[in-house]
Amino acid sequence: MGDATVTISDRGAGRILAGHSWVYRTDVLDAKQAEPGVLVRVQDRRRRYLGQALYSSKSQIALRLLTRERRAFDREFLAERIASAARHRELVAAGAGACRIVSSEGDLLPSLVIDRYGDCYVIQTLSQGMERLKSSVVEILLERFSPRCIIERNDSPVRALEDLPETKGVIAGEEAGEVIAEDNGVRFAYDLLGGQKTGGYLDQRENRAAAVEYTRGRLLDCFTYAGGFALTLARRADSVLGLDSSADALAAARRNQDLNGLANIEWREANCFDYLKSADQSGERFDTVVLDPPAFARHKSDLEGALRGYKELNLRALKILNPGGFLITCSCSYHVSEAEFLETVASAALDAHRSVQVAERRTQSRDHPIVLTVPETHYLKCLILRVAE
Ligand SMILES: C[S@@+](CC[C@H](N)C(=O)[O-])C[C@H]1O[C@@H](n2cnc3c(N)ncnc32)[C@H](O)[C@@H]1O
Repeated sequence: MGDATVTISDRGAGRILAGHSWVYRTDVLDAKQAEPGVLVRVQDRRRRYLGQALYSSKSQIALRLLTRERRAFDREFLAERIASAARHRELVAAGAGACRIVSSEGDLLPSLVIDRYGDCYVIQTLSQGMERLKSSVVEILLERFSPRCIIERNDSPVRALEDLPETKGVIAGEEAGEVIAEDNGVRFAYDLLGGQKTGGYLDQRENRAAAVEYTRGRLLDCFTYAGGFALTLARRADSVLGLDSSADALAAARRNQDLNGLANIEWREANCFDYLKSADQSGERFDTVVLDPPAFARHKSDLEGALRGYKELNLRALKILNPGGFLITCSCSYHVSEAEFLETVASAALDAHRSVQVAERRTQSRDHPIVLTVPETHYLKCLILRVAE
């Protein structure tokens, strides 16, 4: 157990008692003894024990709860948490070539991400507290999984909120180079040091698999990145057009296309908003459209603009779909709730004069668990919609 004690307000205590893992700085009454990133004992105003947490001296999230138990949160406890998360993946991501092993708050290890790509592991320690536990995390991974290499992708801008530098590199084992892993029958080459996020968008693995069933005819994959949806759906489509604004992403998509010997895909560097508008105006038609844009609402204050963006994209996509066609549409903005997303897409359908059925309402892959009492862990929404014939 940590030596320092942090006292929090009734409102902060209420959040912990309601099952959340964050306490905001405005709810900290006394943290005088706490050094940046230490493990602290948390108590309420009446000095009643609430749990143990990682303390941040900088972030608006001052405390991230690790446990409500009194048992010391030591290296053994950390190893048990990682082992428990890994056991869950044996169930929900069995056979996955690449998957998330630890998903931060989703696995009761706030601000820690561990992704596995083949036999290589990528970690992110995104708070002062997790940064201090990094060497223990690496030791535990080496002991438990004997990985070929461990890479840190701590080049995320969220580290600035914690006064932590952005950094990346190999921290154990050999230089990974290109790592190839197969999911849903498609081989992907990952660049773990240079790719977006930790190398790929692992949270869409199950949505790509689900979308296969609905795919046919001419497919448009907007925001394709390295071709995640385009390549998975290509075998069911006559032709595929994959769009992204990043030339690097499209180079990775082409590499993946070659790896899989798929001939029916064209990649184009384009702004998807512009492309959809001109496709709509010029009368282009598709049978299947995928929309998987980046998060438009990174802060609550971005919500209105984000909803306008989703409306515009979905409106155009619905207009260019042939009758009986399918739209696979996603939002990874936590601040846009599923209800708001549904409402926005419904409003787009009305404006597009299309009648739309909901074939599936989906979320992130199960290796990115949702904790019932931590709504922030439910961030990805994915709707599979059928346009009436
Ligand atoms: C969430 S990722 C897509 C992940 C991908 N669908 C997959 O399954 O792996 C979003 C992608 O959108 C691209 N992007 C961002 N803004 C864009 C825009 N306005 N037009 C086209 N691509 C954009 C980014 O380069 C990034 O590759």
